[in-house]
Amino acid sequence: MRRLIDRLEQKRSLSKEEWIALIEGMQDASYLFERARTAAQKYYGNAVYVRGLIEVSNYCKNNCYYCGIRRGNCEAVRYRLSEEEILNCCRQGYALGFRTFVLQGGEDAYFTDDRLADLVAAIKTSYPDCALTLSLGERSKDSYQRLFDAGADRYLLRHETADGDHYQRLHPAEMSYQGRMECLWNLKEIGFQVGCGFMVGSPGQTAEHLAEDMLFIAKLQPQMVGVGPFVPHHGTPFAKESKGSVDRTIYLLALLRLLKPNLLLPATTALGTVDAAGREKGILAGANVVMPNLSPVGVRKKYELYDNKICTGDETAEALNSLARRFLHIGYRLEMGRGDPVEET
Ligand code: 5AD
Repeated sequence: MRRLIDRLEQKRSLSKEEWIALIEGMQDASYLFERARTAAQKYYGNAVYVRGLIEVSNYCKNNCYYCGIRRGNCEAVRYRLSEEEILNCCRQGYALGFRTFVLQGGEDAYFTDDRLADLVAAIKTSYPDCALTLSLGERSKDSYQRLFDAGADRYLLRHETADGDHYQRLHPAEMSYQGRMECLWNLKEIGFQVGCGFMVGSPGQTAEHLAEDMLFIAKLQPQMVGVGPFVPHHGTPFAKESKGSVDRTIYLLALLRLLKPNLLLPATTALGTVDAAGREKGILAGANVVMPNLSPVGVRKKYELYDNKICTGDETAEALNSLARRFLHIGYRLEMGRGDPVEET
């Protein structure tokens, strides 16, 4: 496998068969992690970029089989932050040192283009030195354009799986793989820094599907890729499915680092949820971003995408110091700046 790992590092691409061999075999992990860390160090040194995550609404018109805030989960206690509450989150985050805010939410019809464009402009006017990331699902190209024109810098939209059949296994028929892909290409064309991503160990996922994810990412050339283990949620059709593996997740993070060494790669909350040391393991496999929760404390438990999602410990914005200590322990420092991607060389 070392041969394939070296080849990936040199060529920054592999054939589908080669990806499958690596992902199925999962061999030479410590060698791979060492190469991935070295690549991350070359671009980002020992910095871990920090983003403040504001979960603006858990209303969602979609019914994804894996997700705890799907519209069909009638147990979910719904909430929506007001513009004022969102601006307050930014104010508190700014005082704590955050210079990137991520507004994430379900596909909530309340957030029309007019309302969002006003909100984006208000945040960018108050905090012109901050980057603003949106993660609000599928919208029309015109809508994305308006949000970009209003000042949004980045957009996160996980593709979830790059295999059309597997996409349909994870989503009801009313959602389309084509539609998702089109959104990502539109975002790219408009000029957003774009993030895609997928879950590891989602029901029905094979090594071949993951190989397709890698090939898709090589083609899209996103600035960010969010990868975390699938974690079942009790109120979804996938309640009884088993969770994704931490080892496989960090193996994929390391492969992504070698595929595109300047990527912004978060050590996700899901990784920290299934393994108390998950985020450190992610960083040591080449991840370089963390997204502490800046949402109002009262709503954090309600944004429950999966069971036992951590929301009271070191991942909170208030616990930044203890998060910093944890990363310092493994030789990394929190970087509070905007954290734009470094140019590829
Ligand atoms: N387990 C892990 N990740 C999940 N997401 C949604 N539901 C789950 C789950 N059960 C991820 C999806 C989505 C992102 C916001 O959270 O990939 O894009």
